Amino acid sequence: MSDQPISYQRTTVTAALPYTNGPIHIGHLAGVYVPADIYCRYLRLKGEDVLFVCGSDEHGVAIPMKAKKEGVSPKELIDKYHGIIKKSFEDFGITFDNYSRTSAAIHHQTAGDFFKKLYDQGDFLEETSEQLYDAEADQFLADRFVTGTCPKCGHDQAYGDQCENCGSSLNATDLISPRSVLTGAVPTLKETRHWFLPLDQYEGFLKKWILEGHKKDWKPNVYGQCKSWIDDGLKPRAVTRDLDWGIPVPVPGGEGKVLYVWFDAPIGYISSTKEWAAREGKDWEAYWKAPDTRLLHFIGKDNIVFHCIIFPSMLKAHGDFILPENVPANEFLNLEGQKLSTSRNWAVWLHEYLQDFTDMQDVLRYVLTANAPETKDNDFTWKDFQARNNNELVAIFGNFVNRVTVLTHKYVGGKVPSPGSLTQNDRETLEAIKRYPARIGDSLERFRFREASQDVMNLARMGNKYLADEEPWKVIKEDPDRAGTILYVGLQVAAALSILSEPFLPFTSAKLKVMLRGDLLTAKLGWNSLSTAQILLPEGHQIGKSELLFRKIEDSEIQAQLDKLQATKKSNEMKESAIAPQKETVNFEDFSKMDLRVGTILSAEKMPKTKKLIVMKVDTGIDTRTIVSGIAEYFNPEELIGKKVTVLANLAPRPLRGVESQGMILLAEGPDGGLVFMTPEDLSVPNGSQIN
Ligand code: MF3
Ligand code: ZN
Repeated sequence: MSDQPISYQRTTVTAALPYTNGPIHIGHLAGVYVPADIYCRYLRLKGEDVLFVCGSDEHGVAIPMKAKKEGVSPKELIDKYHGIIKKSFEDFGITFDNYSRTSAAIHHQTAGDFFKKLYDQGDFLEETSEQLYDAEADQFLADRFVTGTCPKCGHDQAYGDQCENCGSSLNATDLISPRSVLTGAVPTLKETRHWFLPLDQYEGFLKKWILEGHKKDWKPNVYGQCKSWIDDGLKPRAVTRDLDWGIPVPVPGGEGKVLYVWFDAPIGYISSTKEWAAREGKDWEAYWKAPDTRLLHFIGKDNIVFHCIIFPSMLKAHGDFILPENVPANEFLNLEGQKLSTSRNWAVWLHEYLQDFTDMQDVLRYVLTANAPETKDNDFTWKDFQARNNNELVAIFGNFVNRVTVLTHKYVGGKVPSPGSLTQNDRETLEAIKRYPARIGDSLERFRFREASQDVMNLARMGNKYLADEEPWKVIKEDPDRAGTILYVGLQVAAALSILSEPFLPFTSAKLKVMLRGDLLTAKLGWNSLSTAQILLPEGHQIGKSELLFRKIEDSEIQAQLDKLQATKKSNEMKESAIAPQKETVNFEDFSKMDLRVGTILSAEKMPKTKKLIVMKVDTGIDTRTIVSGIAEYFNPEELIGKKVTVLANLAPRPLRGVESQGMILLAEGPDGGLVFMTPEDLSVPNGSQIN
């Protein structure tokens, strides 16, 4: 379907709805909102019809959980963070046409109707099954209410719906050794009735649509993830939850249940569009149903399965909607070598950044774009931030604009001089300007934002070099007319920069337009006409006052940021090494049910294609058995062989990546988060000895 070029009439751009369980940080901006905003600003400059929607994702178990932690009601929590997040977006110049929220009535209606339609069409499976249940909290455990070991990669902090380590999408009952996040209890199983979207029935559609249709135009990271899910085989997925926070299930038997957050949230894009259309007097349906509308989802990589597999299957089942044409997902941004984390406060929060770097939104936008995690995870470092600012924005872009405007005031009273006869260098420079819109546009259309941002910088670089080569400050002494011509050419470059930098550096672009008083002239000059326009600033045009666009960032400012992170690291280490409180009392009968034996590790090998699992043969005295353990990060297989260990022998066997693990070896947590053996080297009791 993507082979035939279709001429689109309009583009609907969505950016992932952020969870309102915390403020947003640089990772959000770099991964989703800055690229989406650049893209939309670019389309608008080209005069295209584009709709850019987003909103707050206010459902899901993360919300009541965080509310409990903060000691407020869920409603208070979402109101607070919705406000903070919305303001951050405004502050950073993210130009949504509408920013809604999933608690809005229009969304409850839209998502409820969507569910009802699929239900009426018989698209769901309705099943009673056993789900994890926390008897102590009297609550079913799904999604973030339960953690355990990922059956795919062995990561021991996987959530009930997803493993953040390997990106697998999970059902809570898939978790190995699940624990309730609410009480720490080991969950029991309890029957409950739910509606499932039979994803397996959409395999054929997904194969044809993605694997055949979008092999070439989707980013390799996105296509690759989709392919591996489809190849692994898709399973029906529950789209309702036993929870009291969310959108009520609007069908018989739905009492006390809500829609799964990942069912309702993407429908939020549609609700946000409706809200916008009602306000602006537009037709929302054209943006979601017309075949000549192009739908694009900007997201981070942890959202790929939901936007490429689940939501499209929902849209397909519904029947009225178009499917996304592309899903340009980014990888993750790290901060100073560590994964960004809201709970560990390992982040640069946008509202805090603005306190330290007042009015420097564009600097962050630029650094996050120039160093975007486009094809692989990437690292944000404060040193790089400083270098990009001082060596590129200040030394190239700012310096060029400053020189040309200051000299124009100094030599020719701030009026664009007349272009005398043009030299070859002048003509080439003027011609070169015209090639930039197409070059930058090509990169953007292929979602190569880094490349595009570097071309904007290259245009400034060209201007800088032109001035350095022509040296108007020397020429002025002998040949003032020639100096005027040089400034004339330089001013055209500056004017082009004021337009082409807009998607990336909107605040700077606006300032530059005011400085050149080019707002009057270029108001009608869009991206396209820039390639054909003969001149941008005509002779005799009076420019405005020259002002600095950027300022240098001092070492001390960077040091202050690094110190702040260092303090966070220290406090995290303190918290994480704190002695865990004693668990609940167990009676003797409970304890004596555990069969603990002394054993010897006979062999140990890494499980292929996993990061953490080691497969061991252990002599337990009773027998020689296989035990699989998630300890590869702490030990090399070789150093395990021959070790005496305590074995929990009667733990129910469980399969790990296809290998049955028949017990568990006991290790102590070390002070640095590692694991250590607790069996003294010389423990010489025979294998099989009981530990009581
Ligand atoms: N709230 C989700 C997250 O932050 C994203 C939701 S995107 C939507 O990961 F499609 F569901 F809206
Ligand atoms: Zn995993």
